[in-house]
Amino acid sequence: MKKLLLAIPKGRILEDLTPIFNKANLKMEDDFYNESSRKLIFSTNLPNLEVVKVRSFDVATFVKFGAADIGICGSDVIEEFSSDEIFPLIDLNIGKCRLSIASLKPELTGFAANNLENLSHIRIATKYVEIARKYFAKQAIQAEPIKLSGSIEIAPKLGLCDYILDLVSSGKTLQENNMVEISKIMDVTSFVIVNRASLKTKNFAVNQIIDMFKNAA
Ligand code: PRP
Repeated sequence: MKKLLLAIPKGRILEDLTPIFNKANLKMEDDFYNESSRKLIFSTNLPNLEVVKVRSFDVATFVKFGAADIGICGSDVIEEFSSDEIFPLIDLNIGKCRLSIASLKPELTGFAANNLENLSHIRIATKYVEIARKYFAKQAIQAEPIKLSGSIEIAPKLGLCDYILDLVSSGKTLQENNMVEISKIMDVTSFVIVNRASLKTKNFAVNQIIDMFKNAA
Protein backbone atom coordinates (compact mmCIF):
# COMPACT_ATOMS: atom_id res chain seq x y z
CA MET A 1 0.00 0.00 0.00
CA LYS A 2 1.17 3.55 -0.79
CA LYS A 3 2.71 5.35 2.19
CA LEU A 4 1.03 8.35 3.78
CA LEU A 5 2.77 11.66 3.16
CA LEU A 6 3.04 14.35 5.83
CA ALA A 7 4.08 17.85 4.67
CA ILE A 8 5.94 19.92 7.25
CA PRO A 9 6.84 23.62 6.97
CA LYS A 10 10.47 24.70 6.82
CA GLY A 11 11.89 27.42 9.02
CA ARG A 12 11.38 28.70 12.55
CA ILE A 13 8.31 26.56 13.25
CA LEU A 14 10.44 23.41 13.19
CA GLU A 15 11.84 24.38 16.60
CA ASP A 16 8.33 24.36 18.08
CA LEU A 17 7.42 21.15 16.25
CA THR A 18 10.35 19.07 17.45
CA PRO A 19 9.03 18.65 21.05
CA ILE A 20 5.67 17.57 19.61
CA PHE A 21 7.36 14.99 17.37
CA ASN A 22 9.34 13.76 20.38
CA LYS A 23 6.21 13.47 22.53
CA ALA A 24 4.45 11.63 19.71
CA ASN A 25 7.49 9.36 19.41
CA LEU A 26 7.72 10.28 15.74
CA LYS A 27 11.33 10.07 14.59
CA MET A 28 12.58 11.40 11.28
CA GLU A 29 15.64 10.03 9.53
CA ASP A 30 18.80 11.98 10.46
CA ASP A 31 18.97 14.00 7.22
CA PHE A 32 15.69 15.72 8.11
CA TYR A 33 17.55 17.88 10.64
CA ASN A 34 20.67 18.28 8.52
CA GLU A 35 20.56 21.79 6.96
CA SER A 36 23.13 20.88 4.30
CA SER A 37 21.19 17.86 3.06
CA ARG A 38 19.47 18.33 -0.30
CA LYS A 39 17.09 15.45 0.31
CA LEU A 40 13.40 16.29 -0.15
CA ILE A 41 11.57 13.20 1.11
CA PHE A 42 12.41 11.63 4.44
CA SER A 43 11.52 8.32 6.01
CA THR A 44 10.27 8.04 9.60
CA ASN A 45 10.20 5.35 12.28
CA LEU A 46 6.63 4.59 11.13
CA PRO A 47 6.82 2.22 8.16
CA ASN A 48 3.74 3.72 6.45
CA LEU A 49 4.70 7.41 6.85
CA GLU A 50 7.07 9.62 4.86
CA VAL A 51 7.68 13.33 5.36
CA VAL A 52 8.45 16.29 3.07
CA LYS A 53 9.79 19.64 4.25
CA VAL A 54 8.46 22.56 2.16
CA ARG A 55 7.36 26.21 2.51
CA SER A 56 4.13 26.61 4.49
CA PHE A 57 2.12 27.83 1.46
CA ASP A 58 3.31 24.74 -0.39
CA VAL A 59 2.18 22.53 2.51
CA ALA A 60 -1.35 23.79 1.86
CA THR A 61 -0.99 23.33 -1.92
CA PHE A 62 0.19 19.72 -1.56
CA VAL A 63 -2.62 18.91 0.89
CA LYS A 64 -5.26 20.72 -1.19
CA PHE A 65 -4.48 18.57 -4.23
CA GLY A 66 -4.03 15.37 -2.22
CA ALA A 67 -0.31 15.06 -3.08
CA ALA A 68 0.23 15.07 0.69
CA ASP A 69 -2.38 13.44 2.93
CA ILE A 70 -1.58 15.43 6.06
CA GLY A 71 0.19 18.74 6.64
CA ILE A 72 1.13 21.24 9.29
CA CYS A 73 0.64 24.92 8.56
CA GLY A 74 -0.53 28.19 10.08
CA SER A 75 -4.14 29.35 10.30
CA ASP A 76 -3.03 32.31 8.14
CA VAL A 77 -2.27 29.96 5.25
CA ILE A 78 -5.45 27.93 5.82
CA GLU A 79 -7.47 31.17 5.69
CA GLU A 80 -5.69 32.32 2.53
CA PHE A 81 -6.48 29.02 0.76
CA SER A 82 -10.07 28.74 2.11
CA SER A 83 -10.31 25.36 0.41
CA ASP A 84 -13.01 22.72 0.96
CA GLU A 85 -10.31 20.10 0.34
CA ILE A 86 -8.34 21.17 3.42
CA PHE A 87 -9.62 20.11 6.85
CA PRO A 88 -7.92 21.86 9.81
CA LEU A 89 -8.19 19.18 12.52
CA ILE A 90 -5.88 19.98 15.44
CA ASP A 91 -4.72 23.33 16.80
CA LEU A 92 -1.15 22.61 17.90
CA ASN A 93 -0.96 25.94 19.79
CA ILE A 94 2.51 26.63 18.43
CA GLY A 95 3.84 29.26 16.03
CA LYS A 96 1.69 31.86 17.75
CA CYS A 97 1.75 35.22 16.00
CA ARG A 98 -0.66 37.62 14.30
CA LEU A 99 -1.48 38.80 10.82
CA SER A 100 -1.43 42.59 10.81
CA ILE A 101 -1.52 45.67 8.62
CA ALA A 102 1.52 47.90 9.03
CA SER A 103 2.95 51.04 7.51
CA LEU A 104 6.03 53.22 7.80
CA LYS A 105 6.15 55.47 10.88
CA PRO A 106 4.10 58.69 10.32
CA GLU A 107 7.23 60.83 10.69
CA LEU A 108 8.61 59.10 7.59
CA THR A 109 5.49 59.30 5.44
CA GLY A 110 4.14 62.67 6.54
CA PHE A 111 0.59 61.29 6.85
CA ALA A 112 -1.40 59.47 9.52
CA ALA A 113 -1.50 56.02 7.99
CA ASN A 114 -3.52 54.56 10.85
CA ASN A 115 -6.77 56.09 9.60
CA LEU A 116 -7.76 53.31 7.21
CA GLU A 117 -11.48 54.20 7.35
CA ASN A 118 -10.86 57.29 5.23
CA LEU A 119 -9.36 55.32 2.36
CA SER A 120 -11.29 54.34 -0.77
CA HIS A 121 -8.35 52.45 -2.25
CA ILE A 122 -5.35 50.71 -0.70
CA ARG A 123 -2.26 49.31 -2.35
CA ILE A 124 -0.78 46.71 -0.04
CA ALA A 125 2.18 44.33 -0.34
CA THR A 126 1.52 40.84 1.01
CA LYS A 127 1.70 37.09 0.59
CA TYR A 128 -2.00 37.05 1.55
CA VAL A 129 -3.77 38.40 -1.53
CA GLU A 130 -7.12 36.70 -0.84
CA ILE A 131 -7.23 37.67 2.84
CA ALA A 132 -6.42 41.28 1.88
CA ARG A 133 -9.17 41.37 -0.77
CA LYS A 134 -11.79 39.93 1.59
CA TYR A 135 -10.79 42.09 4.55
CA PHE A 136 -10.93 45.39 2.66
CA ALA A 137 -14.04 44.43 0.67
CA LYS A 138 -15.90 44.19 3.99
CA GLN A 139 -14.86 47.77 4.72
CA ALA A 140 -15.78 49.03 1.24
CA ILE A 141 -12.14 49.78 0.49
CA GLN A 142 -10.88 48.75 -2.91
CA ALA A 143 -7.74 46.67 -2.34
CA GLU A 144 -4.86 46.44 -4.74
CA PRO A 145 -2.77 43.63 -3.23
CA ILE A 146 0.76 43.28 -4.58
CA LYS A 147 1.99 39.73 -4.14
CA LEU A 148 5.46 39.25 -2.67
CA SER A 149 6.98 35.99 -1.41
CA GLY A 150 9.04 37.32 1.51
CA SER A 151 10.83 40.32 3.02
CA ILE A 152 7.52 42.19 2.71
CA GLU A 153 8.71 44.91 5.10
CA ILE A 154 11.01 46.32 2.44
CA ALA A 155 8.12 47.28 0.10
CA PRO A 156 7.05 50.66 1.61
CA LYS A 157 10.64 51.81 1.94
CA LEU A 158 11.17 51.19 -1.77
CA GLY A 159 8.01 53.07 -2.66
CA LEU A 160 6.03 50.05 -3.83
CA CYS A 161 3.11 50.82 -1.53
CA ASP A 162 2.20 52.55 1.74
CA TYR A 163 0.97 49.42 3.54
CA ILE A 164 1.86 45.80 4.12
CA LEU A 165 -0.15 42.84 5.42
CA ASP A 166 2.18 40.34 7.07
CA LEU A 167 2.88 38.20 10.11
CA VAL A 168 4.09 39.90 13.27
CA SER A 169 5.61 37.83 16.04
CA SER A 170 8.09 39.72 18.24
CA GLY A 171 7.65 42.95 16.24
CA LYS A 172 11.42 43.11 15.65
CA THR A 173 11.19 43.11 11.85
CA LEU A 174 8.72 46.02 11.85
CA GLN A 175 10.81 47.95 14.35
CA GLU A 176 14.08 47.47 12.48
CA ASN A 177 12.44 48.67 9.28
CA ASN A 178 10.86 51.80 10.82
CA MET A 179 7.34 50.46 10.57
CA VAL A 180 4.36 50.43 12.94
CA GLU A 181 1.54 47.94 13.34
CA ILE A 182 -1.80 49.57 12.50
CA SER A 183 -4.33 46.83 13.01
CA LYS A 184 -4.48 43.10 13.67
CA ILE A 185 -6.51 41.03 11.20
CA MET A 186 -6.23 37.63 12.87
CA ASP A 187 -4.36 35.60 15.49
CA VAL A 188 -2.34 32.76 14.04
CA THR A 189 -1.37 29.30 15.33
CA SER A 190 -0.29 26.14 13.55
CA PHE A 191 -2.77 23.36 12.72
CA VAL A 192 -2.62 19.77 11.56
CA ILE A 193 -4.53 19.76 8.27
CA VAL A 194 -5.81 16.78 6.28
CA ASN A 195 -6.85 16.30 2.68
CA ARG A 196 -10.59 15.63 2.49
CA ALA A 197 -10.31 12.61 0.17
CA SER A 198 -7.47 11.06 2.23
CA LEU A 199 -9.65 11.31 5.32
CA LYS A 200 -12.29 9.20 3.57
CA THR A 201 -10.23 6.74 1.55
CA LYS A 202 -7.34 6.22 3.98
CA ASN A 203 -9.41 6.73 7.09
CA PHE A 204 -7.73 4.18 9.37
CA ALA A 205 -4.13 5.13 8.56
CA VAL A 206 -4.82 8.88 8.59
CA ASN A 207 -6.64 8.66 11.92
CA GLN A 208 -3.69 6.85 13.48
CA ILE A 209 -1.49 9.84 12.63
CA ILE A 210 -4.15 12.32 13.76
CA ASP A 211 -4.50 10.53 17.11
CA MET A 212 -0.74 10.58 17.49
CA PHE A 213 -0.73 14.39 17.10
CA LYS A 214 -3.82 14.82 19.32
CA ASN A 215 -2.07 13.00 22.16
CA ALA A 216 1.10 15.03 21.73
CA ALA A 217 -0.43 18.51 21.22
C1 PRP B 1 8.17 36.45 9.13
C2 PRP B 1 7.19 37.54 8.74
C3 PRP B 1 7.88 38.80 9.22
C4 PRP B 1 8.65 38.30 10.44
C5 PRP B 1 7.94 38.71 11.70
O1 PRP B 1 9.15 36.40 8.15
O2 PRP B 1 6.93 37.54 7.35
O3 PRP B 1 8.76 39.29 8.24
O4 PRP B 1 8.70 36.86 10.38
O5 PRP B 1 8.61 38.26 12.86
P1 PRP B 1 9.02 39.28 14.02
O6 PRP B 1 7.81 40.09 14.35
O7 PRP B 1 9.41 38.36 15.17
O8 PRP B 1 10.16 40.10 13.54
P2 PRP B 1 10.12 35.15 7.98
O9 PRP B 1 11.23 35.22 8.96
O10 PRP B 1 9.32 33.90 8.01
O11 PRP B 1 10.73 35.40 6.54
P3 PRP B 1 10.09 36.00 5.20
O12 PRP B 1 10.15 37.48 5.32
O13 PRP B 1 10.98 35.49 4.14
O14 PRP B 1 8.67 35.50 5.08
